[in-house]
Amino acid sequence: DTATQQTPKRAAPTLPDAQTVTQVTHWTDRLFSFRVTRPASLRFRSGEFVMIGLMGDPDPETGKQKPLLRAYSIASPSWDDELEFYSIKVEDGPLTSKLQHIQPGDEIILRPKPVGTLVHDALLPGKRLWLFATGTGFAPFASLLRDPQTYEDYDEVIVTHTCRTVGELEYGAQLIEDVRGNEMLEELIGEGFAAKLRYYPTTTREESPKMGRITDLMRSGEVYADLGVPPLAPETDRAMICGNLAFNLDLKALLEEYGLREGANSAPREYVVEKAFLD
Ligand code: A2P
Repeated sequence: DTATQQTPKRAAPTLPDAQTVTQVTHWTDRLFSFRVTRPASLRFRSGEFVMIGLMGDPDPETGKQKPLLRAYSIASPSWDDELEFYSIKVEDGPLTSKLQHIQPGDEIILRPKPVGTLVHDALLPGKRLWLFATGTGFAPFASLLRDPQTYEDYDEVIVTHTCRTVGELEYGAQLIEDVRGNEMLEELIGEGFAAKLRYYPTTTREESPKMGRITDLMRSGEVYADLGVPPLAPETDRAMICGNLAFNLDLKALLEEYGLREGANSAPREYVVEKAFLD
């Protein structure tokens, strides 16, 4: 009928830099991931982050709304036609208390200016790449692990992920499984690439096959014994660190003890570090 025809199917987008949510997955009561449409012009390097968010509440006096934005690592690879993000839910977090309720069809704000240090360009060539994550710090590695260059540049890629519970490892565990069996990646990188990938998940507050903080397992030598590799050395090993602040600082100090130096886009060296987003 006429009334229906006159009603617009969809409200005009009101957000600046709006992208549409296509999928949401809740992994635990603390963690969720989501996918959004990708701006056609957006190019990024695996491991980079963008600012994303929602409109904030109206100002009580002026009624004006301002965007509420936070840095989020892009978890999807650069060849994907959508963008994926992995997030914590903080009950009283200004952004994540709202963001955790998004549904497919909703819009989020995405500023299309990717930046960051967890990129291949910031590391010198090496034999073995270590990706050290805690919690949602896995996100940039989810992108890097689906990037052909990661396997082209290194003989071996070791991913460690330390979480409180087994449930918090699930996003990473499924990603690793997907990478190992991914035919598209095999086509891009070549048969047998998955043999280079080693996955080392640990938990600290719930029973699992491997327990303990990765930093302690490195100090004791357990991780090297488990994987059958020598301790990190500046001649052969490269590392990327992404987790909570205390973890980043502890691991940074440990890597410096091994003789690795921090690199940047402008001055590539042996390791790079970036903080996982906390609301
Ligand atoms: P722990 O349970 O011993 O604190 P969070 O969820 O708080 O961000 O922590 C994620 C994981 O990182 C947890 O398993 C936690 O272990 C671990 N972690 C926190 N701080 C450090 C640190 N300084 N060094 C190594 N691991 C850490």
